[in-house]
Amino acid sequence: MTAVAVATKTLLEVRGLEVEYGRVRAVDGIDLTIDAGEILGLAGESGCGKSTVANAIMQILRPPARIVGGSIRFRGEDLTAMSTEELRRFRWRNVSMVFQSAMNALNPVMRVGDQIAEGPMAHMGQSRSQARARALDPGPRMAEWCRTGARPVSPHSAGCSSMADPMPAGHWE
Ligand SMILES: Nc1ncnc2c1ncn2[C@@H]1O[C@H](COP(=O)(O)OP(=O)(O)OP(=O)(O)O)[C@@H](O)[C@H]1O
Ligand SMILES: [Mg+2]
Repeated sequence: MTAVAVATKTLLEVRGLEVEYGRVRAVDGIDLTIDAGEILGLAGESGCGKSTVANAIMQILRPPARIVGGSIRFRGEDLTAMSTEELRRFRWRNVSMVFQSAMNALNPVMRVGDQIAEGPMAHMGQSRSQARARALDPGPRMAEWCRTGARPVSPHSAGCSSMADPMPAGHWE
């Protein structure tokens, strides 16, 4: 038998995380570690604190929520100690979030390509043209939306999961 040493590299390490909404303790001392190449699923009943943990990791908790204990480290760097500018560079490049109800997250009055380009512009310092070129990259259908200037249909309209012209309904997968 051959012993193979597998070097694991810890990406994310959360220790003793505590988050409160006002006086209500929503997350009470959670520990988790994610190594490179590892996938971690967080499952639990509604209201148990999954989104709060994710928002804390991304440092996007809004008052009255606040971290009252513990540490969150990405590649050893303490995220809770980062400045706004450091966090802006860190997010999207290292950790991204797909929010609940993601299909409703696109702004119906902005072009899809412009919304996709916002990420590279805001977090990677890319110019609008560089970011748009990147937006055209992900796949033929997405590229078509970007080229044609499609807008997502308003979530208030009947076809909330479809795209505005020129793509027919049912193409928002
Ligand atoms: N803005 C807020 N003010 C006060 N309490 C809040 C607020 N947001 C969430 N909570 C409370 O924090 C707890 C955790 O909520 P959270 O949204 O993290 O749960 P979740 O596990 O993501 O639930 P779901 O599965 O429904 O998305 C819940 O008890 C919730 O009521
Ligand atoms: Mg949630």
